Amino acid sequence: MAVSRTFSIIKPDATRRNLTGAVTKMLEDAGLRVVASRRIQMSREQAEEFYGVHKERPFFGELVSFMISGPVVVQVLEGEDAVKRNRDIMGATNPADAQDGTIRKNYAESIEANTVHGSDSEDNARTEIAFFFTPEDIVG
Ligand code: PPS
Repeated sequence: MAVSRTFSIIKPDATRRNLTGAVTKMLEDAGLRVVASRRIQMSREQAEEFYGVHKERPFFGELVSFMISGPVVVQVLEGEDAVKRNRDIMGATNPADAQDGTIRKNYAESIEANTVHGSDSEDNARTEIAFFFTPEDIVG
C-alpha cells in the first residue's frame, strides 16, 4: 500500500483538556507521521465553509459553534493508506460505539465533543489539506 496523506483536526474538547500530545502520540503509534501542524482559532465563517457539506443537517449550528469554542490543531498526516489508518485509530463518530484502543473511546466526551476529525476519502483529504495548508507548509 502506497504512502499517502490525510487531514486531521484535534478538536476543542481535546485542546481544552491539554490532550494534544496524547492524541498525537496515538496517531504516531498507529504509524502516521505529522508532516504539518498548526494550532488555530477557527472563525465562524471558516468553520461554516469547512463543514459546508453538512449545512442541511440538524446539528450543523451546534457543530460549527463547538468547533469555534476553542483552539484546534490542524494537521497533515502521512503514512501507508493514511485515510483508512487514521479513521481506524479515531474510532466511531459516537464514542458510545467506538472500539477499545481508539482515540474516541479513550478521550471523546460525546458525539459532538469527539476529540478528532479525519478525512473520509482521499479526495476529501486533498480538499481539506488545501483548505488549511499550502504545499510549502508540508514537510514530509
Ligand atoms: S462521519 O464520520 O463524517 O461519517 O460522521 P457524521 O455522522 O456524518 O458527522 C459529521 C460530523 O458532524 C459531527 N456530528 C455532530 N456534531 C454535533 N452534534 C451532533 N449530534 C452530531 N452528529 C455528528 C461529527 O462529529 C462529524 O464531525 P467531524 O469533524 O466531521 O468528525
